[in-house]
Amino acid sequence: MTDLIHLLPDAIANQIAAGEVVQRPASVVKELMENTIDAGAGDIKLIVKDAGKMLIQVIDNGCGMSERDARMCFERHATSKIHKADDLLAIQTLGFRGEALASIAAVSQVELKSKRRGDEIGTCIQIEGTEVKAQFPVNCPDGTSVSVKNLFFNVPARRSFLKSNNLELKYILDEFFRVALVNPHVSFTLYNQDKILYQMPSGHLKERILNLYGSSYGQKLIPLEQQTPMVNISGFLGKPEFAKKTRGEQFFFTNRRFMKNAYFHHAVETAFKELIPDDSTPSYFIFLEVDPHTIDVNIHPTKSEINFQDNKSIYAILHAAVRQSLGRFNLAPSLDFEKEPGMDPPPLPAGYQVRQPTITVNPGYNPFTTQRPAPDKGTHHPAPHDSIHAWNEMYAALPKPGRGSDNSPLFPENQPEVPASRLSVTGEKKVNIQVNVAFLITHTKTGIVILDQNRAHERILYERFLKTNQPEKIQGQHLLLPPTITLNPDDTRLLQEWISHFSNLGFEISHFGKNSFLVHTLPPDVPPKEVGPFIESVIESLKTPAQDTRLSKDQKLAKAMACRLAVKRGTRLHPEEIDSIIENLFACQVPDLSPDGKPVMIILPFSDLIHKLKIT
Ligand SMILES: Nc1ncnc2c1ncn2[C@@H]1O[C@H](COP(=O)(O)OP(=O)(O)O)[C@@H](O)[C@H]1O
Ligand SMILES: [Mg+2]
Repeated sequence: MTDLIHLLPDAIANQIAAGEVVQRPASVVKELMENTIDAGAGDIKLIVKDAGKMLIQVIDNGCGMSERDARMCFERHATSKIHKADDLLAIQTLGFRGEALASIAAVSQVELKSKRRGDEIGTCIQIEGTEVKAQFPVNCPDGTSVSVKNLFFNVPARRSFLKSNNLELKYILDEFFRVALVNPHVSFTLYNQDKILYQMPSGHLKERILNLYGSSYGQKLIPLEQQTPMVNISGFLGKPEFAKKTRGEQFFFTNRRFMKNAYFHHAVETAFKELIPDDSTPSYFIFLEVDPHTIDVNIHPTKSEINFQDNKSIYAILHAAVRQSLGRFNLAPSLDFEKEPGMDPPPLPAGYQVRQPTITVNPGYNPFTTQRPAPDKGTHHPAPHDSIHAWNEMYAALPKPGRGSDNSPLFPENQPEVPASRLSVTGEKKVNIQVNVAFLITHTKTGIVILDQNRAHERILYERFLKTNQPEKIQGQHLLLPPTITLNPDDTRLLQEWISHFSNLGFEISHFGKNSFLVHTLPPDVPPKEVGPFIESVIESLKTPAQDTRLSKDQKLAKAMACRLAVKRGTRLHPEEIDSIIENLFACQVPDLSPDGKPVMIILPFSDLIHKLKIT
């Protein structure tokens, strides 16, 4: 019998190995950019086309390579960065495994041009799927340029796994940001489809953060600094008030290498604990410097994870450093966000009295015999006809704002009455009231209605933004001086994607270069002063993956805006505001459900009260 086992040809072995290092265009960007940093470059250009699927080119002015090195660098395990096993214990460079270029060349068409400072002439080498096609001398500037074309041209299965250009470009930007953040002394330019997306001169870390995330970030940061024999910590923390609901800018770098570390993330997050709402998470740019002998960076093919010899001590130091920094900037008093301010039952406003209603009762009447609409989970169905009818009927008896007392009888005259001597309070005015700064109470012909003020207002705004009751589009209010808003690049792309939907809802916004926008009109309910933070927070909620896929984009946006603008529980309302919420809610098409599909109100039918109070 013949033996079965044979060695795989180099090309296949390399392709298999490449799977670990090169998962998508962003992995190529990461490896090429890291090589430029290791080569001591002071200026780096990244050029991408078709989100890196067609071209990724990285040009640097680093040390360059000789003719032989330019060939050698594509061999697997070919590196200039370590020589012996011991070197692995004290790695100072980003690369060291000598497999990135070999892996990239196995799955794409690569052209590398390189010249060392002092050499007369450079070299150009062309490789396709591991095979060297040509190498010849060229005239080129000092440094190296690597072009990676048609990634995965020979692994169609991999290519078909790639995501949309938008998403792949986002992954590329993530890698670009990581390298740019940790190397503020290096200038970077990023070209996407021949257009400059970022151009950043060398500078300090804070300047780099502002270059990447917009100048408004300047007011959002506080410095972090802690020197100990075990670890030096530096960087910036986002102020607690700018904490976001989704993970955004959270960066750890150890010895200038980006790393993911859930354990240290926990240290930071718990340090912020009482300062931010439970569902929010802080931003941070944290740089750790440790003795390279005390860490192991060789635990993951993409080198994005690091083992620390003394994880626990660093956790404790980091936690204390963040706490101290927050405290030093006077931000860490014992605030208690879990309890919204004003949630304690306050005394009623002066002159406010809850009066017993004058009621006459039909004990046989049951308002729940009418079918209620099924929860619409935010989708905008008109309520079933019966239900609208029931609401209209109830609404007809509601107190109207500004009308003072409404003396219409609570129940139709032909209903049998409970003797007035038992229940009525003479001279009673119907008033809508707020209790516990969270609930509104009103009454209808048939019972007492208790509303959640927040959900009620959300429903009103949601329908108003969608103009459910208006035949024509609501015109936004024109602003005399259109405010400029500056967003981070992720949010910029998102706003561009949603800009026509913002316009449908009354926001005329125009792109004003790079990450800035001008706001020309606002929907009537949006306070002009808060337009920037308002748009940012709405964009933030659009990122939530839990968004209901059955909603149209307009509905999603209306929901996000309503949620941001609606009065919160804990807000004390003026009597006119209470009346207005109640009146407007009952004019809605689906008054009993919030845009999220949660109940807005409960009704205590008088008949139940009569029964429970054993009134005969
Ligand atoms: N931009 C560059 N400038 C100079 N030398 C480079 C550059 N890119 C790669 N090299 C050389 O090619 C070698 C192989 O690169 P790579 O496959 O990424 O492995 P590693 O970075 O782990 O050494 C590097 O060790 C380095 O000597
Ligand atoms: Mg490398």
